[in-house]
Amino acid sequence: MIIRRKPDIASSEITPERTYLNRRHFVKKAAAAGVLGTALGPRALQGKTTLQELHPRFDSMTSEMDEPLNSYEEITTYNNFYEFGTRKSDPAENSGAFRPRPWKVEIGGMVNKPGEYELDDLLSGITMEDRVYRLRCVEAWSMVIPWYGFPLSALIDKVEPQPGAKYIEMKTIVRPEEMTHQRFPILDWPYIEGLRMDEAMHPLTILATGLYGADLPNQNGAPLRLVVPWKYGFKGVKSIQSIRFVEEMPINTWQVQNSHEYGFFANVNPNVSHPRWSQARETRLPGFRKDFDTMMFNGYTDQVQHLYAGMDLARWK
Ligand code: MTE
Repeated sequence: MIIRRKPDIASSEITPERTYLNRRHFVKKAAAAGVLGTALGPRALQGKTTLQELHPRFDSMTSEMDEPLNSYEEITTYNNFYEFGTRKSDPAENSGAFRPRPWKVEIGGMVNKPGEYELDDLLSGITMEDRVYRLRCVEAWSMVIPWYGFPLSALIDKVEPQPGAKYIEMKTIVRPEEMTHQRFPILDWPYIEGLRMDEAMHPLTILATGLYGADLPNQNGAPLRLVVPWKYGFKGVKSIQSIRFVEEMPINTWQVQNSHEYGFFANVNPNVSHPRWSQARETRLPGFRKDFDTMMFNGYTDQVQHLYAGMDLARWK
């Protein structure tokens, strides 16, 4: 959730911003050199730390603060990114040749300021934030991840959607020369996801550019990916290259693949089973058993249930 700096902490206890930025820089370099364990301490890598311990100067409004974070190693070696293969270990193994910079994002559809934007121009003036969210996948595993990014609403405000825009559609880049498995018809490329405009504008919805204080690794969706914490992980489209504002509800990749099994909304819901398995319990990685009761809206009910007032969530999956 939103991580806030403690307002009343003695200034002597606060890491000066420059030191913090330097640390971010250091962590970035350390990650590139593959020595993140040294930067964050071995406890982070074992997944036995909480964000509170990692960054004691932050405070939080929700319970993720008390939940152990998954380690950098877990978050970056157990992935779904079919552009690089379908096994969980494939994205880490096969995404080394992918080049996330330079990067342009195409903004189009019903919007006053369409165009092809350099990512850095698009981000200029937008405040970046640390957020910790649960990521819950439809296969019933979950992780707790310290993201770095910004509210999608900040970008939407910048490009001025027109009143007719009811939904937003986001697509992953197509680069079969770098994305090894786009050469095969595993999915209908490009990977597509969508949100209703009020979901896209919700303050919990972010575009992430990093995790654990370092830029996003390729396997997690560099340089820009969607994170919607109350929805199943497949909504989190990675390596976003285009954003369109549209009137009609977009059809996402998994609906195209199997409309019987996947819907547009994909809200985490323990009471609505996937046709082939229950969604009532989940495995918090790196465990093996479904030791956790799945929470409605992944634990974010208070913040998001008003978006679906009057909707039959068994029907609108
Ligand atoms: N985005 C693209 N482009 N391709 C994918 O295969 N997989 C989705 C989502 N975004 C996917 C994607 C699924 S099914 C999940 S669960 C999350 O990414 C996983 O994110 P993670 O690998 O960072 O944990």
